[in-house]
Amino acid sequence: MAGRIPDEFIDEVLQRTDVVAIVGERVPLRPAGSNYKARCPFHEERTPSFTVSPDRQTYHCFGCGAHGTAIRFLMEHDRMEFREAVQDLAQRVGLELPDTDSGVRTSDQHAPLYTALDEADRFYRHALRSHPKRQAAVEYLKKRGISGDIAARFGLGYAPPGWDNLLRRFDDPRPAVRAGLVIERDGRSYDRFRDRITFPIHDRRGRVVGFGARVVTDGEPKYLNSPETPVFHKGREIYGLYQALRARADRLIVVEGYMDVIALAQLGIEGAVATLGTATSTEQASVLLRSAQEVILCFDGDQPGQAAALRAVENLLPALQADRQVRVLLLPDGSDPDDLVRAEGRDSFLQRLECATPVVDFFLASLADDCDLSTVDGRARLLQQASKTLRRVPRGLLREAILGQLAEKTGLAPDRLDELLRGDTPAQQSPKRKPQTPGSTQQAELRRTPARHAIGLLLHQPQLGAHAGDPDRFADRGIPGLDLLQQLLELTRQAPHITTARILERFRDSSYEAALNRLVAAQRTNAPEDAWPEFRDALRRIEEQIVEQEQADLFQRLEDEQRDCWTEDEEERVRKAQRLQLLMDRLKRDGLTADQEREIAELRRDFGL
Ligand code: CTP
Ligand code: MN
Repeated sequence: MAGRIPDEFIDEVLQRTDVVAIVGERVPLRPAGSNYKARCPFHEERTPSFTVSPDRQTYHCFGCGAHGTAIRFLMEHDRMEFREAVQDLAQRVGLELPDTDSGVRTSDQHAPLYTALDEADRFYRHALRSHPKRQAAVEYLKKRGISGDIAARFGLGYAPPGWDNLLRRFDDPRPAVRAGLVIERDGRSYDRFRDRITFPIHDRRGRVVGFGARVVTDGEPKYLNSPETPVFHKGREIYGLYQALRARADRLIVVEGYMDVIALAQLGIEGAVATLGTATSTEQASVLLRSAQEVILCFDGDQPGQAAALRAVENLLPALQADRQVRVLLLPDGSDPDDLVRAEGRDSFLQRLECATPVVDFFLASLADDCDLSTVDGRARLLQQASKTLRRVPRGLLREAILGQLAEKTGLAPDRLDELLRGDTPAQQSPKRKPQTPGSTQQAELRRTPARHAIGLLLHQPQLGAHAGDPDRFADRGIPGLDLLQQLLELTRQAPHITTARILERFRDSSYEAALNRLVAAQRTNAPEDAWPEFRDALRRIEEQIVEQEQADLFQRLEDEQRDCWTEDEEERVRKAQRLQLLMDRLKRDGLTADQEREIAELRRDFGL
């Protein structure tokens, strides 16, 4: 795999590039003061809130928050990969991409893992073409209707029988062990995947981060997967997304299995992706919604399939914006897309997709399914079940649509419903703080979360952002407020001297405007020297929430999949999360030893913090 492009080269390319020209070729821009304006290409809008700044060489949308440089624009708008985008721009300005194949940066501590994974990927793919024992695997794939082209596109491979086919290829096996390819137990090392068909799992940039592996005919377990590793988190990756993005699919079809993704691609239905044998996490939900205009969840219509669909919907709704569409398709009991598309053909499957149920209808119908709406109790139960999700859905059209339908089902007025739903937010259950003056009622309505607290402090003292670390660690976590916090941190980092007023100005007419104004008003002013510890604590509490959220996802998986215990990898992840929580706690109270410092740094990296 090609190595990393040197930062200096990227700087050079950006310096010679004019973002206004790049955007202008794709979106009609018109001058507005020292900037250019347009209707945002990333979300639907009537009044233009998308600006391109020649001074800063960036674009920014006040409506949907899309922002970045010319490179980012090509990645998001033309769906290019990072490398492709740099290459494209370099070509325009007459620069040649340096040959970086050998230039893997030693400073990237994960590089040896990627190298090992890449080596395994090449070995398995090669074995499927030429290993003496490959025959059964090849026949099996043929029998399932998979062509050479599709096998190549998804990088299918074969891990031959034997304990050390892969192991032998490494001078130093340690990176392969850390990458989950080789198992080390009781002083013995051996290949994890043996006599199995392999499915490489790519991250969005196309790097192999792990594998799924299926027995060739029968055997248990049917599928083996890579464990959680520093570069592979099941709750984060989405199988097939890389290929779907490359095919420029404008809708994603979320299915359950590797073979479902491949079968659909085989019949020319683009955009099929799968979560990795787990429920769709909040993190995956926000990645899915950012990657395409439409997401169709396609699950088995049996009871577990329905439960999985509902769980996915509960995670998608809070991240769903008005310009995106989500629908749900339940297949006939006991069939998966692979069976179905091969039994009834491409056209009938496409037909089924056309008839998928809009997400709000599905959400309410499946909640109502076990409530008897003719009774008061049943209606109360429906409300209670909906409220868990609704509390996470921000105000806006979607929320109103849900409230409207709930109102119809329960016979309550939407306003009254909204009140009821707010009535059981945790803040109001614990009557610690009561509003003292009439003027403060609006503020009392805002539950004080660490994210809101951090935003409030940052708005009052934007210079705090300079020391807050990498803003991206807060992106896509599925926790309300963190996307805004990330944007603010980005902004204050780029412009450390920006004033509160200018920040608010930047968000004028955006969906965040009202929230920001409330937060400024609610935040008491404190002395600059007090602000930093408070801010740092708020950021730490957010990090704690992130780790907790991940544990909650793991617990949820047990529940969704009706299992009694975690897999070894999940166990390990939970253990790490608990250890990290312990260290975070200790850090707050009495500081850490040098060893613990190292340990916490490693753990934080594991959790992307
Ligand atoms: N899965 C897994 N581990 C297992 C079983 C299943 O990780 N032991 C995941 C895989 O991602 C698999 C998906 O769950 O693709 C669906 O599993 P299942 O319905 O059992 O298999 P199919 O995809 O239908 O498998 P196939 O069609 O290859 O028989
Ligand atoms: Mn199947």
